[in-house]
Amino acid sequence: MIHTIREHFSHEKELSPKERKLLEAFPYFDPTHIGDLVSRGGQHTVVRYGSDMVLKLPNGLPFAIKTPQAAQRNVALLQQYFPDYMMPTEVYQVDSTYCLVQEYLRVYEPLTSRVLPEVKDQFHDMLDSNGQLITDTGFSLEPVGGEGFWRTAVSRLRGDHPTDLVLANIVVDRRTPGEPHLLIPDIGLYTLEAHDGRNYQALSLLLFGLSQVLIRHYLDMDLRGQHLQASNHTAVE
Ligand SMILES: Nc1ncnc2c1ncn2[C@@H]1O[C@H](COP(=O)(O)OP(=O)(O)O)[C@@H](O)[C@H]1O
Ligand SMILES: [Mg+2]
Repeated sequence: MIHTIREHFSHEKELSPKERKLLEAFPYFDPTHIGDLVSRGGQHTVVRYGSDMVLKLPNGLPFAIKTPQAAQRNVALLQQYFPDYMMPTEVYQVDSTYCLVQEYLRVYEPLTSRVLPEVKDQFHDMLDSNGQLITDTGFSLEPVGGEGFWRTAVSRLRGDHPTDLVLANIVVDRRTPGEPHLLIPDIGLYTLEAHDGRNYQALSLLLFGLSQVLIRHYLDMDLRGQHLQASNHTAVE
C-alpha cells in the first residue's frame, strides 16, 4: 500500500514496470500500442493506446474503485442517466481487476466556473439528471473530484484566479468550433448509501457535502439540480 501511494505521488512520467505488467496481462490489448502516460488521476492511471484511445488502469489507492463489478455498475449508471454526456467506455476484466478503454481526447479543458456561462444549460441539464440518479439509486456524480478540490484550493491560495472552481471530472469538448459540449470521462460516483461499505459511504457523504458547498457558493446550484435563487424566490412567496 505504501509503495502504491509513493509511486502515485512520485511524478513519474512513465508507467512503472508493475503497471506495464498489469496492462500486458489483458489479452485484449496489443502491448506495442501502449503509449505515453497521460495522467495519474485520483483513481486511475491513464495511458495512451494507439493513436486514438486511452486505457485506464485502477491505481489501487485507498477508496479508489477496485472491482470490475463496481466499474461496470458505475459505467452503466452513467450511461443510463447521462446519455448525452458520458463518454463511451468499455470495461475489460482479467481476474479481479479491470481496465477501461475510451477515445483519447486531444483538445479539451476542465469545466471551471469561468467557462460555465458558455455551457450553462448543459450543466443544469446534467445536474437535473443527477437529482434523478440520487433519488433512484443513492449514487451521485462526482463533478469536482480529488483533482478539482486540489486545483481549486491551489488557484485560490496562489490568488491566480480566485474566482475559479475547477470541476475536474467534467470536460469541455471543443472539437466542433463554436459548439462547446460537456463530456464526462470519469467513472467515479459517490455512494451516498452503504452500497460499497460504511467507510466508503462516510467518505462519499463528506466529499459530496464539500462539493455541495462549493457548487452552491460558486454557481448558485446544487448537486440535485435545484436552482437556489429560484427556490429562495418560491420560499419568499
Ligand atoms: N479520454 C481521455 N482523453 C484524454 N485525457 C483523459 C481522458 N480521460 C481522462 N483523461 C485525463 O486523465 C485525468 C484522469 O482521468 P479520470 O478518468 O478522471 O481518472 P480518475 O478516476 O483517476 O479521476 C483526467 O483529469 C484527464 O486529464
Ligand atoms: Mg477524475
